[in-house]
Amino acid sequence: MKVICTEKSQVLATQVAKALKTTVVDVKYTRFPDGELYLQAAEIDDEMVIVGSVVDSDSLVQLMLLVDACDRATNRLVLPYMAYARQDKRFKAGEPFSSRVVARALSQGVSEVITVNIHEKEVLKSFSVPAHNLSLAKDIGSYIRTLHLDNPLILAPDEGAMAFAEQVASAGAWEYDHLKKTRLSGVDVRMAPRQLSAKSRSVVIVDDIISTGGTIATAAGMLYQQGAKDIYTACVHGVFTGGAYARLMATGIRDVVCSDTIERSCSRISAADRIAHALRKN
Ligand code: R5P
Repeated sequence: MKVICTEKSQVLATQVAKALKTTVVDVKYTRFPDGELYLQAAEIDDEMVIVGSVVDSDSLVQLMLLVDACDRATNRLVLPYMAYARQDKRFKAGEPFSSRVVARALSQGVSEVITVNIHEKEVLKSFSVPAHNLSLAKDIGSYIRTLHLDNPLILAPDEGAMAFAEQVASAGAWEYDHLKKTRLSGVDVRMAPRQLSAKSRSVVIVDDIISTGGTIATAAGMLYQQGAKDIYTACVHGVFTGGAYARLMATGIRDVVCSDTIERSCSRISAADRIAHALRKN
């Protein structure tokens, strides 16, 4: 078994290979003069683990090309972050069912798909091969333990993220709660006031995705007004679009961390061991 990866998942893929005691295949990535993506992989094994987050259109195409380059092997696909998963139905007439489009495209040429904290588990049903989802909630909990906070309050920014916050909190038997979020538009979020015992406490806001950071920036502002001592935030997928990381730090949040499902300089939690464990099991 060997591991192969797209350009944007190189570090995570290498860690997965290390955990599996195997190697990462060398791939040359270039472009044709007209901008089309090209790649050439060396030494394909009979059994390949293909690791690649879909973070943009190029990484999606690169992943499909990589699967095709491995077409003589049994391929398992690890999709640490799947962009388009949030468009998990037609919300309005005339819209695409984007998550289904991506899932169908990525089912070709692979025998199994492994995702990490996919935004909506229903999306797994759109793959035409068996698809399993892993959660990094416990790993985020382990990271929070390293902060040595005194009696932290683990907070989900909305009710939908409550189960995730509960799993994170179980790592330290901490209290957990959620705020009420109303999305006003694609980028604007309003947090409805809620009675929290955040006063004089360290709060850790946890979520699956930080995209614009609007959700958490609004929550942080509100919590500081309520007298929170300090606020930290941790997520699985650090999308950080439109300057989100800087925006969050500017609100006075002490630290913003994410996992390496999207490789960032603040990726201080790794999905590698959990992915390797799942690959060994199946
Ligand atoms: C929404 O359901 C997700 O769990 C996240 O809360 C959301 O994607 C975060 O978006 P943003 O960072 O743009 O507020």
